[in-house]
Amino acid sequence: MKLPVEGFSKLSKEEKLNWIASNYTHNADATKTILKQYWNSSTDLQKLHDEFIENTITNYYLPLGIAPNFLINDKLYAVPMAIEESSVVAAASKAAKFWLSRGGFKTTILGTEKVGQVHFIYKGDTSKLKDFFKLLTPILRSDAIAITKNMEKRGGGISNIELRDKTADIENYYQLHCTFETLDAMGANFINSCLEQFATTLKREAQSFSLFTNQEKDIEVVMSILSNYVPNCLVRAEVSCPVEDLNVEKSISPLDFAKKMVRAVSIAKVEPYRAVTHNKGIMNGIDAVVLATGNDFRAIEAGVHAYAAKNGSYTSLTNASIEDNIFKFWINIPLALGTIGGLTSLHPLAKLALEILQKPSAKELMQIVAAAGLAQNFAAVRSLVTTGIQKGHMKMHLQNILNQLEASEQQKEILIKHFEKNTVTHSAVIDAFNKLSKH
Ligand code: MEV
Repeated sequence: MKLPVEGFSKLSKEEKLNWIASNYTHNADATKTILKQYWNSSTDLQKLHDEFIENTITNYYLPLGIAPNFLINDKLYAVPMAIEESSVVAAASKAAKFWLSRGGFKTTILGTEKVGQVHFIYKGDTSKLKDFFKLLTPILRSDAIAITKNMEKRGGGISNIELRDKTADIENYYQLHCTFETLDAMGANFINSCLEQFATTLKREAQSFSLFTNQEKDIEVVMSILSNYVPNCLVRAEVSCPVEDLNVEKSISPLDFAKKMVRAVSIAKVEPYRAVTHNKGIMNGIDAVVLATGNDFRAIEAGVHAYAAKNGSYTSLTNASIEDNIFKFWINIPLALGTIGGLTSLHPLAKLALEILQKPSAKELMQIVAAAGLAQNFAAVRSLVTTGIQKGHMKMHLQNILNQLEASEQQKEILIKHFEKNTVTHSAVIDAFNKLSKH
């Protein structure tokens, strides 16, 4: 039987390791060896990683790959991607190269607005609250000056503060719905600090508003937090070319291919089961760059999927059309990203990834990430409507299966050659491996 532990965070790293190994794994020695194998030999670097979170016992590695040849607004990028899925970087690279000779990606920033809300309960007359809010707004701004002054110097800050009456949804529920411009920072700390200050000011000022009754003065703040739903922090990425340039496979004419792409996207537009997988493919590209550059991929995921459902049913994030013999493929996607602050300068690999991207502004990074998502989706749908994804996927997966089987380098070479002409399936690889091992 497992027993709860007291004060785990206070144990030393070695003690934590011992506790995990002896309580939760079958082979305590091997567990400790593996965990330690992933420690970095530089104590400074290890300390940095240890301190990112609480209760660190080791590092968890993911591959960092590069998808080169991304031509975005006539500038060439090599895009760093941190991801475990075997075919993603290959697919992104293939799509980037395909569009390189067809004008590349064109991207536009449609907005950079970030959002945060103070959720509160006010039991009283709504019109009095509205009058109070008029007087309150400049005080909210002036009370937050210590937090906003640096951001304002650079051209950002609080954009708008609005009182929203939500009493039709929940009795006595109102919001301060606030928008922000956070420039190159993702802005979570800035926004949350502003909101917590707004909450304090709101409660304090209500106490001295002479028209409020005692009950009305007693505003209860439920919570103050940024929103990861950022429909106006939006970027558009697009590729297009004459239909006859879509000579992707010998077995299919460019026009048939274009039509198949448009139809596949139209299915993802109307069918949520397909849309989720379609968008998952987009997120393969998006998350990999977001993670590589030290941004918060959970925030991005949450915001993107909410955006995909903004009209009431979940739909495709990408669009495709054929008009006047031009094939067009595009995405509008909300991406609240930062290129300063947070992990971006702290994690050596995030810093390097941003250097590889030539130190982009947050707006530029939004465009790169959107292009990566569009490329990934183009590659996935291209495969789906032509050869199917398993061919490419299993070819990449072969290496993983061989590693799982602990094949030697020589065995790998023989088996990779063998599977150039044979279909890769998990059992076929095991059979071939067993046969080879017997020789
Ligand atoms: C796999 O990670 C992603 C795909 O399923 C995306 C798609 O179906 O469009 C290939």
